[in-house]
Amino acid sequence: MDAMNETFDPTRRHSLGAAAAWMMLASLGAGRAQAGSAGTAPALSFTPVPMTVEAPLAVPPGYTARVLYAWGDATGQAEVTPWGSDVLVTPAAQRLQAGMHHDGMAFFPLDGRRQARTRHGLLALNHEYTDERLLHLDAASLADGARTPEQVARSQAAHGVSVIEVRREGAAAAWSVVRPSRQARRITADTPMAVSGPAAGHALLRTAADPEGRRILGTFANCAANATPWGTYLTCEENIQGYFEPPTEPGASQRRWGLQAGGRGNWARWHLHDERFDLRRHPNEFHRFGWVVEIDPHDPTMTPVKRTALGRAVHEGAATGVSKDGRAVVFMGEDARFEYIYRFVSRDRVRPGGFAANRDLLDHGTLSVARFDAGGRGRWLPLTHGQGGLTPENGFADQGEVVIRTREASDRLGGTKMDRPEWTAISPVTGEVFVTLTNNAQRGKPGLPGADAANPRAPNPTGHILRWRHGGDLAAETFQWDIVALGGGETAGDAFSSPDGLTVDPFGRLWVATDAAPMLEAAPGERLWLPRNQLLACDPNAPGGPQMRRFLVAPPGCEVTGPVMAPDGRTLFLNIQHPDAGWPAPGGRPRSATVAVTKDDGGVIGG
Ligand code: FEO
Ligand code: CA
Ligand code: CA
Ligand code: CA
Repeated sequence: MDAMNETFDPTRRHSLGAAAAWMMLASLGAGRAQAGSAGTAPALSFTPVPMTVEAPLAVPPGYTARVLYAWGDATGQAEVTPWGSDVLVTPAAQRLQAGMHHDGMAFFPLDGRRQARTRHGLLALNHEYTDERLLHLDAASLADGARTPEQVARSQAAHGVSVIEVRREGAAAAWSVVRPSRQARRITADTPMAVSGPAAGHALLRTAADPEGRRILGTFANCAANATPWGTYLTCEENIQGYFEPPTEPGASQRRWGLQAGGRGNWARWHLHDERFDLRRHPNEFHRFGWVVEIDPHDPTMTPVKRTALGRAVHEGAATGVSKDGRAVVFMGEDARFEYIYRFVSRDRVRPGGFAANRDLLDHGTLSVARFDAGGRGRWLPLTHGQGGLTPENGFADQGEVVIRTREASDRLGGTKMDRPEWTAISPVTGEVFVTLTNNAQRGKPGLPGADAANPRAPNPTGHILRWRHGGDLAAETFQWDIVALGGGETAGDAFSSPDGLTVDPFGRLWVATDAAPMLEAAPGERLWLPRNQLLACDPNAPGGPQMRRFLVAPPGCEVTGPVMAPDGRTLFLNIQHPDAGWPAPGGRPRSATVAVTKDDGGVIGG
């Protein structure tokens, strides 16, 4: 989702402004990238895809992209009525089918770790939000924000997470969804969840339906996601502010978290038939979302856990690694203008034995916010109650309140206000941590922060990618950082704008998905079509410096998201979110979908 946070409205496209039009021109004229690097990464040797192509989804010669799992496809839990462009699915059926708006994703191999080829695994993926007009097949009934009880139930069922079993077989070695599957699962906006960590049971989490503050129904607005080293899935709740009916005049903290006066911004309208989403009656329900949720994809009966020690935020990802002494380290960005980058370091070490051996790992540790200083240096500032002014006198009663109001705590510590941090990713080769800073057209505007060392453009309509290093230990208190690539054609190779989805493959190469507005108003009434979104590869440590190389051009209207490489490097899975009509099937209702890209000779993706 191109969030924009407070102004987000999924029924409307966003404008990027004149700079984006310039970006289009720069892209059309961009020279081809040179061949990739030597060193640890295989050279990026594919022929880059031009920005302007006829095909609805274009990959380099010698590669094939196949749709694997589209909105409405059965998960494999049970047989359901086949999806059709004119089929109005029931909420019960939608709970057994792919939800809408695929986003973050992770792959969990079932082949055994020693297998040279990845042929069997689980894919866990997020269904971030819904297009209510497409979902309910009755646009007229939605006029003036009205909803029927069935529409609310269908919308809630189309949110959440899918876990599907996938296998690669046959002459074409194509991936398919295994059906039936005992591993398949759907998690939705009303699946029961546990709460753990310092906010579990907190007064600010207690509601009439849950007086203990320890059992929450559902997850939604799930944006980015990551696998942990112990084999679980971390799904991140992002734009929660669009799901609640706020008080007529929200309080200061509610406004800080994006709730608007008069109910503006509540696009989901669930409160009409599910009263817990009405903050005028249940103000604490808002505090029960915005968390990182841990799911064991290997156990479809497992109760998902909201991990409050990782802080509450408009979360966009939770890249997880291991420190020098064996502790879990989680990096997280908060996708909103002038918000923060976070790190959690666990108290205890990661143990062998999967989720069963690490059930409480993410409940104890230190959450910090990043400060990026001039000169390429930076420091993690601990969000620990009693330190740095995080005291009762300043409105933080305990550690539970610090993690519930992470934004206000970070304001007080002086974390660096970033240009919409989207995905974070850790290189398995170098230990470098990367973050996409998608854009920030507001930087430098009157009354708002201007340029700083780590966010050097004011305004920044096309975004950048930044990295930091911890001197070999992800748990170090300080780090060194630099900028890897600037959007808008300022980095060598193929131009891009608004980097969002991000993964580092087993060879240390970046795969960058973009989420720019596909269309803008060049002048009132005059519409200019921008290039389509794309996926680019980049060797961040190439001898001649980073170069972007366009690997995929996506269907019109969509954003590319969820990139993840299979462990053998021979399949790249990604998601196509909110395509225009005509994809994946010409003439049909558009459907977000998971796509598997393979090389026709069976080789490593990218060369
Ligand atoms: Fe859901 Fe920040 O994208
Ligand atoms: Ca998104
Ligand atoms: Ca985005
Ligand atoms: Ca995103």
